[in-house]
Parts: sequence; C-alpha cells; structure tokens
Amino acid sequence: MRLDVVTIFPEYLEPLNVSLVGKARARGQLDVHVHDLRGWTYDRHNTVDDTPYGGGPGMVMKTGPWGDALDTVLADGYEAGARSPALIVPTPSGRPFTQELAVELSERPWLLFAPARYEGIDRRVMDEYATRMPVHEVSIGDYVLAGGEAAVLVVTEAVARLLPGVLGNAESHRDDSFAPGAMAGLLEGPVYTKPPVWRGRDIPETLLSGHHGRIARWRRDEALRRTTAHRPDLVERCDPEAFDKKDREMLSILGWEPDPEGEPYGRFWRRADGMEE
Ligand code: ADE
Repeated sequence: MRLDVVTIFPEYLEPLNVSLVGKARARGQLDVHVHDLRGWTYDRHNTVDDTPYGGGPGMVMKTGPWGDALDTVLADGYEAGARSPALIVPTPSGRPFTQELAVELSERPWLLFAPARYEGIDRRVMDEYATRMPVHEVSIGDYVLAGGEAAVLVVTEAVARLLPGVLGNAESHRDDSFAPGAMAGLLEGPVYTKPPVWRGRDIPETLLSGHHGRIARWRRDEALRRTTAHRPDLVERCDPEAFDKKDREMLSILGWEPDPEGEPYGRFWRRADGMEE
C-alpha cells in the first residue's frame, strides 16, 4: 500500500517510522511519503492560510498550495505505478472513523492524507478532488485537536495492522472490539498473564480451569459487563438475535431487558432500576 501525507508539520509524522507501521515500512509492505505543504508556496512567508470569507475567527487553508501539492503527489504516484487513490481529510466535522472504514481503506492500494491546521481547508479543494477519487472526511472522536496530523497517525495504524502479513498472528484480529464475528458489537473484556498472583491479586479461577467452554462463556459475560458499563449505546444497537440464553441471563443481572416496543422486536435496554457500574 502507498501512503502520502501532505502537512505543514512533516516531523509530526515521525512516528510512522516506529513500531508496527515502521516495521511494515521497513519490510516494504507500506510505501510512505511525507510532503511539506510549504513546498508549494511561492511567497516570502510561505503562506498556507488566509482569513475566512464571511468573517469569523481563525484562518482557512488556501486552495493554491493544496491543489498544487495534491496534483504533484498524484502525478508522482501514478508515475511510480500507484493506482486508485483515496483522499482522507481528517476533520472534527467528518464522519466518525470506525473499524468498518478501516477495513474498507485497508483494501485500497493508495491513501492520500490531507491533515489541516487552523479552521480547515477551503471547501473547494475537497469538492475538486471528489470529482476524481473517493474523498473521506473523517473524525477520530468528539473533541477538537489542533490539527489533523494525530488523526493521520490513528487512521494509518488502524489500517496498517489489517494489511496481510503486518500483524504476526492473523488470529489477533479475531476478537478485536468492533471486529465482525461472534463478539460483534461488544467490547473485549479484561485479559491477564503470568504471574498468577501479583500484589495479592489473583487470576479469575475460570481462566485457570482449562475448560474451553467455561472460558468462552466467562469472556462473553465480561464483554457484556464491560460493554453495558462503557458503551450502553452499543448494546442498544445489538440485534437481539445475537444474544443466547446465557447472554440474556447476564444482561438481566446487569439490569438490561428486552424492550417489547424496540425495533427490531426485543432490542435490549437498561431497566429503570438497572445497575450503573
Ligand atoms: N482535527 C481536529 N480535530 C480532529 C478530530 N477530532 N478528528 C479528526 N481530525 C481532527
């Protein structure tokens, strides 16, 4: 996969040389190119921003440098044989970045990132490139960062670990929170490793039992416990068909019950007297 990042802070992307993404790069699985947007400015001050039309606070990133930068990077990539680019624009007003989108992006051969600083990039830049390629404006959460560079690192890492051969053990994706499968829609519960006792704290006995069925049940109960506590919205979204008898017993203990008026029928919700953790 080819990755291009155009930014006014190339050094912010140094972490792309480290850890999983760094190793994927060293192995040639990721071909990363970081470009300084100011390389496409032609005035003495290397200006990349200007005041917003209509007034208001802050500055807006100008069309000129972005257009010239993206055109050059696209031409370079095509010349090197890259195909089918997608443009990713991190912004707090984008659609939420999810595991589903990470999977979709991991299947593309070429991702181009345009992280903005200030109040964002002149709208016409996204509109222009959307005529040539998919443009994804994505938010990594409901908070405002000083710029999109940290979001580029987040998206890159989520995508890179899905590429074939990047994670050592393909099984490691299987139980990821948010991955499809048996635990779809639930958060992962707690995990433990040796030693068996640490500062007087031991391991849940079931995990030492060697009994695969009981261990799977325990993990599922803990996933339900954690999801109801941290992300009740995910439980509400679950298809009730996905809950077996034991799930329903656990959900009842946690204070959740099927909503007779829920859509689809029997969707779970928290009882008025349900436990808060
Ligand atoms: N830029 C600033 N805040 C952001 C956020 N929450 N997600 C993506 N890009 C951003």
